[in-house]
This record gives sequence, structure tokens and C-alpha cells, in this order.
Amino acid sequence: MSNIISDLNLLEPANTVSDEIRTTPNTSTGKSRKLYIESYGCQMNFSDSEIVASILQKEGFDTTSDESQADVIFLNTCSIREKAEQTVRNRLAQVNQLKRKKPGLIIGILGCMAERLKTALLEEEKTVDLVAGPDAYRDLPNLLQQADEGQRSVNTFLSREETYADIAPVRLHSNGVTAFISIMRGCDNMCTFCVVPFTRGRERSRDPRSIVAEATRLFEQGYREVTLLGQNVDSYAWSPEENNKAFMQKKGIRPQVNFANLLEMVARINPLLRVRFSTSHPKDITDEVLHTMARYDNICKYIHLPVQSGSNRILELMNRGYTREWYLNKIARIRHILGNDCGLSSDMIAGFCTETEEDHQATLSLMDEVMFDFSYMFYYSERPGTAAAKKLKDDVPPEVKKRRLNEIINRQNEHARLRNEADKGRVFEVLVEGESKRSAEYLQGRNSANKVVIFPRRNYRKGDYVHVRITHCTSATLFGETI
Ligand code: SAH
Ligand code: SF4
Ligand code: F3S
Repeated sequence: MSNIISDLNLLEPANTVSDEIRTTPNTSTGKSRKLYIESYGCQMNFSDSEIVASILQKEGFDTTSDESQADVIFLNTCSIREKAEQTVRNRLAQVNQLKRKKPGLIIGILGCMAERLKTALLEEEKTVDLVAGPDAYRDLPNLLQQADEGQRSVNTFLSREETYADIAPVRLHSNGVTAFISIMRGCDNMCTFCVVPFTRGRERSRDPRSIVAEATRLFEQGYREVTLLGQNVDSYAWSPEENNKAFMQKKGIRPQVNFANLLEMVARINPLLRVRFSTSHPKDITDEVLHTMARYDNICKYIHLPVQSGSNRILELMNRGYTREWYLNKIARIRHILGNDCGLSSDMIAGFCTETEEDHQATLSLMDEVMFDFSYMFYYSERPGTAAAKKLKDDVPPEVKKRRLNEIINRQNEHARLRNEADKGRVFEVLVEGESKRSAEYLQGRNSANKVVIFPRRNYRKGDYVHVRITHCTSATLFGETI
């Protein structure tokens, strides 16, 4: 059904996470074989590619940014929407051309699409040599050896324990200032539209000691910001015996470290190390987390809190576990504890199953009430195997989905502009991340609320904290002068 939608070429906004594709840079340590990885989807996948590069480095691989130089090409794939999978299929068709010229070339599909389609992928895509799901990366050396011997290899085993805690990622896309640290894997939530619980398996939290050690190492290497990553960071729960919140509750084990504790542990590494996190879940975020944020200046005042819809009927059908009123109350708690400056962003889905015009208006009115600084906005794309695909009808016509999505995007742009206008004349502390994309005479960084700030270069360098007075803005960016 969702094929129809992608045929109509309903474009998602360019700023969505899944529209970004990342390729490997060159690392040259004199290794004998070359690996090229292309990563799709969310930050989790980008982080996983850094784990994969680390595992293969030990096997004698350098990474290359030039696919024609590669001995192995991996596509680390995303299944979140139909379009994400279609992009990979198209890319695979191009990669196949390379293989025709270089018969020994090994092509591997990693990530969520590998997990979702498993061996079917080998049947559908004749040139693919290797299929590895998100929990199977330690097995890559073995899978590659089988592929080298001419056998097509597959491992899509999902683990209850794997967190890759002991593997030091090879930072592939780093600006040397900001880095991502994966703190948990999987998701236990079962939102009815979402494929992630199927592709990433049960939720598990990584040993906090390995997280603090990784953040400390990054700080020592000159990094000044870490983002703690998970599908639902608020359900982070760790004890020596159990690292899944639901199992802990069942066994009567109290977590030794919850998310608020973990945030504090990382914040205490050094006041010059900023801490961010993503993604928070409205049903799980606690006042304890908000108070911890308030206590530490270096925990950035920004929360990504996806609401998906403003209609209670739709939220229920989505199995999100909260109501509009609950969500608005969480926003009130955030504003009360952290103030109006705390950056807030959301994800929205337009045209979920049975969504009426009234439900859609409820989403717009919720947006008006909250005034998000930023949102990732999508139209609903039915995913095979999910509860929504099995039990609900994807009955909102594509052109209606498109129109509603556009209304949501327009409303978001208005709000972002208003929120940015309100920052004019104010001074923010900005961590310098590098040159502005448009001009080498300008630098760019972000303020605590996660807004991009651009200012004249002068003698500032990457990793510096500078104070910038905002002089003008667009709906996406703040511009100013350092003081
Ligand atoms: N764990 C995060 C979301 C991860 S997926 C959370 O719970 O908020 C990122 C976003 O993709 C989701 O928030 C949702 O807005 C969107 N998304 C997920 N499945 C989708 C689908 N089938 N169709 C359209 N958008 C979807
Ligand atoms: Fe998907 Fe819901 Fe889990 Fe987010 S919380 S990854 S939307 S199932
Ligand atoms: Fe996509 Fe998998 Fe991330 S489906 S959004 S790559 S968890």
C-alpha cells in the first residue's frame, strides 16, 4: 500500500534524520583491505557503523571514502519508512554495477533492513553476499570469511545482552568536538506504527562504567560534547544482574543506575564536557531527570520529546502510552523546572490510520500550545509486520496525508521563526563545532537549547566556548556577534 505513496513522490522534509546518508572517510593505517560503509537512518545506525569499522579494523581493514577502491561495501540500512528501504534498493542497483567490474567485491547489507528481511534479502538481491542484523556485528569477521570462500552468509540473531560495551568505536564522521555514545539498544515499546522493536529487538542498557569511560576518553581527546543515545533513554535501567527495565520489574530488582543517575555520572566528568541525550519518551521522562538537568550547567537544556499526534484517539491507536493532557503536563513540568529557554523538539506523523480532519486539527492545536523549536515530520508509511499493518487500515489517501503533512510543516516553520525571533538581542554560550557551511569567514556551533548559531570567525577555534549576541535569524538558524 505504501508503494503508492512513494510513487507519488511525497517528499519528506530535507531535515529528517533518515534523509541523511553518510559515507566513510579515508583512514589509512596501511591495512591490506579497504572497507566502504554507507549509513542510513538514525544516529544509532551511524554509531553502529563506527562499531563495525572498529571490528573490521582488527581484521585488517582501512576505511575508504571511494567506493571504487573498496574490497568490501557495506550498506547499513534503515526500515523506518517505505522510502528509506526504497533508497537502499536503488543504491544497491548502483553498487551492483561496481561488482560487475570487480567480481571479488563483497557486498553486505547491515542494519534494520537486514534484520527485517533476513534471508529473503539474499533471494531478492542476487548480488548481496552478506546479511548481518544489528546484534550480529561481532560475527562479521566470520561472515566475511564465508563470503570470501564464495558462500553467501547471514546472521540476524537478536540478542538480549549485546551492547558492544567493550568496543571502542572508530569515529568516522567526527568534527573532533561532538560525539555520540550509544547507552542502550532495542526498544520494548511497541508503538503500533513502528518497525524498530522488530529490527532492534529487546531493550537493554549498557554498563554505566563503560559509558563513563568512553565519555572520559573522548574528553581527554579534546571532545567537548557527548550525546547519549537510545530509542527511549528514560527507560535506561542497569543493575549487575539485569539490564532491561521490564525484566527488572518482573524479578523485583531495583535498578542500581537509572537515566537520571547516568546523566549525573557523565555530567560530573568535567564541567567543560557538555551532555545531551536523545530520545526521550513522554510516558517515561521523570521530574528526577529534569531536576538533574537543572542542577548541572553542562547538561544542555534541550529535550527531544516526540508527540506523534495531538489526538487522544490516535495516540491510543498508536499505543504511545500517554494522552494529549499527559503530554502537555510534561511540557508544563519542563517549563516549570527548566524555564522557557529549554529547547523542545518533536516528531509528528501525519495521516496515521483512520486519522480524521478533527484529529489532524488536534495535532496543529497541540503544536500551537507547545511551540516546538524544531520537529521531524513525516507522513505515515505502513510497515509490514507491525500491529498497525495487521490490525488497522492505512485508509488516509496519499494526497490527504501530503496536505496534512504540509500544514504541519508550515505551522512548525512559523513556530520556529517566532521562537528564534525571541532570541534576538540575547547572549548565548556557544560551543564552536567548525566552519559555517556557507563561508569560511564564519564559524558555527550550537547553544545549550540546540539552536545552530553562526558568527564571525575572528581567532576562535573548534572546541572553544564563545559568547554570542544574536542579531538576526531565520526559522532554522541564529546569527550573531561574539562578545
Ligand atoms: N524512539 C523514538 C523514535 C524513533 S523512529 C520515539 O519513540 O520517539 C523516529 C520517528 O520516525 C518516530 O518518532 C516517528 O515519528 C517516525 N516513524 C516511525 N515509524 C513510522 C512510520 N511507520 N511512518 C512514518 N513515520 C514513522
Ligand atoms: Fe518505535 Fe515507539 Fe520504540 Fe520509538 S518508542 S522506537 S516509536 S516503538
Ligand atoms: Fe531506521 Fe533502524 Fe534507526 S529502522 S531509524 S535505522 S533503528
